[in-house]
Amino acid sequence: MSTDLTGRVALVTGATGGIGAALVDRLLEAGATIVGTTRDAAKAERDDRYSLIEADATDRASAARVVEEVERRHGAVDVLVPNAGSGTTRTLPDTTDEDWDEAIAVNLTAPFLLARAAVPRMADRRFGRVLFVSSLAAFTGGAIGPHYAASKAGLQGLVGFLASRYAASGVTVNAIAPALITGTTMGDALPDDAAAHIPVGRMGTTSEVAELAVAMLGNGYLTGKTMLLDGGLLAR
Ligand SMILES: NC(=O)c1ccc[n+]([C@@H]2O[C@H](COP(=O)([O-])OP(=O)(O)OC[C@H]3O[C@@H](n4cnc5c(N)ncnc54)[C@H](OP(=O)(O)O)[C@@H]3O)[C@@H](O)[C@H]2O)c1
Repeated sequence: MSTDLTGRVALVTGATGGIGAALVDRLLEAGATIVGTTRDAAKAERDDRYSLIEADATDRASAARVVEEVERRHGAVDVLVPNAGSGTTRTLPDTTDEDWDEAIAVNLTAPFLLARAAVPRMADRRFGRVLFVSSLAAFTGGAIGPHYAASKAGLQGLVGFLASRYAASGVTVNAIAPALITGTTMGDALPDDAAAHIPVGRMGTTSEVAELAVAMLGNGYLTGKTMLLDGGLLAR
């Protein structure tokens, strides 16, 4: 049976990126109403179940503002996917203070601020779904750099803390950790032979990420988990 999120309101950051756009498509199919964020208002598109808000994740005030705006438009945030992500490929010596601060701001602080604004109100309503977007880099270090790996690893602490505190309130908290996904800025910047060492022999697709993400969002018994979606790179 396909996931049914009819009537649920989802907030997806980075909604116009590769994975974000695929996720919006799958959430629409599952019946949700979606508000996405982007830094570029020119990308704004709106229909009766999908609208966009302009927000930059490095602006700390934007998280509470976005959550309030979604609640003003639709009455609640039932589903939160802090999907916006940033990371420029660096070696350790090349990683500047600015690289570090940006990766932590976008990949870790913004998800925390969004959860802090949305989760207590989910608990009041006795329903909530939070899905952080981690990365295989959180476990292996990955190829992008120390700033990116550390920012994604920090999400694991958030998953554990929030899942244990809010399970009894009807709020599930999980993460999906993809690797080497085509149709994304990060994935498409990789060298042509990037797929050579992936056990399944190819890179993953944004629709495969979205499919698993929506299945996780639809499952009320799944909480405190990170699902790796990596073509078999890390068997465990
Ligand atoms: N692609 C992969 O192989 C891979 C693997 C593991 C994890 N991930 C994670 O998957 C998530 C989605 O990334 P993607 O692969 O779909 O990459 P993408 O196509 O580059 O999309 C990234 C999205 O993040 C948003 N973003 C970046 N910096 C932002 C900022 N300062 N404020 C607000 N939004 C910002 C962008 O929004 P704008 O519309 O404003 O540009 C864009 O929509 C990220 O968290 C990424 O770390 C990707």
